[in-house]
Amino acid sequence: MTGELSPIDKAKFVAAKRAADYVEDGMRVGLGTGSTAAWLVRCLGEQVRDGGLRFKGVPTSTRTAQLAREVGIEVISLDEAKWLDVTIDGADEFDGDLNLIKGGGGALLQEKIVATASDQMVVIADIGKEVEHLGSFPLPVELIPFGWQTTQALVEETLISMDVLGRQSSLRMNGERPFITDEGNYILDLHVQRIGNPRQLSLVMNQMPGVVENGLFIDICDAVVIGYGDGRVEVRDINEGTVEQERLDFFETDNLFTDLAD
Ligand code: 5RP
Repeated sequence: MTGELSPIDKAKFVAAKRAADYVEDGMRVGLGTGSTAAWLVRCLGEQVRDGGLRFKGVPTSTRTAQLAREVGIEVISLDEAKWLDVTIDGADEFDGDLNLIKGGGGALLQEKIVATASDQMVVIADIGKEVEHLGSFPLPVELIPFGWQTTQALVEETLISMDVLGRQSSLRMNGERPFITDEGNYILDLHVQRIGNPRQLSLVMNQMPGVVENGLFIDICDAVVIGYGDGRVEVRDINEGTVEQERLDFFETDNLFTDLAD
């Protein structure tokens, strides 16, 4: 073990551990990207190794694919799976309707394709991700590199007529160079601060030439598993209209905690 988990990591871990219950033998499962999703992949890997769980995973990024293979999960492509029973993924923000901002890790395109191809999408998040209005977290928009500055100008101009508070944007960088997604594209982060009409903004963004996809997930998420630093978890299911709370026991001597790097 490399040190005691922070409350936020405990929250992410308990959310992931609870969400692992959604995975049953024989399922095809979308595996999200990010630090919370990495906990899920580790939990599922442990159940494969120690509990005999058998399922096929469709990763949403090269990072997740690598981790899934490392922990012993059978990895297949979305084209092999065709349709999924459930996708479990993190989020940067979720609101009361379980609409999301995703893409903080730059994997929004594969994440949205995989989540949309699933009977059910379950989000795992610490309570700090809940917001009244989406938009404090900069909205990621994936662009093709060709003419990206022209696309950026068009995006900012379009934001004038949208119900948002800010219209600045910045190209996501990886050191001195633009961040490159798994699909070879760029990410523009929109500093909109508050999104009054997420559905409209998502539709308008995706109509612009040069924009591949945006990080708003509207009507895609079915349930959110919210973790707290003291081990509590809350499961909100938007279709069932239910809210369940429980507390998970966990021990930091567990093998899962030996590698905290994402
Ligand atoms: C990656 C994502 C992640 O799910 C999102 O950024 C949340 O990440 P984390 O669990 O590390 O907070 O959308 O593109």
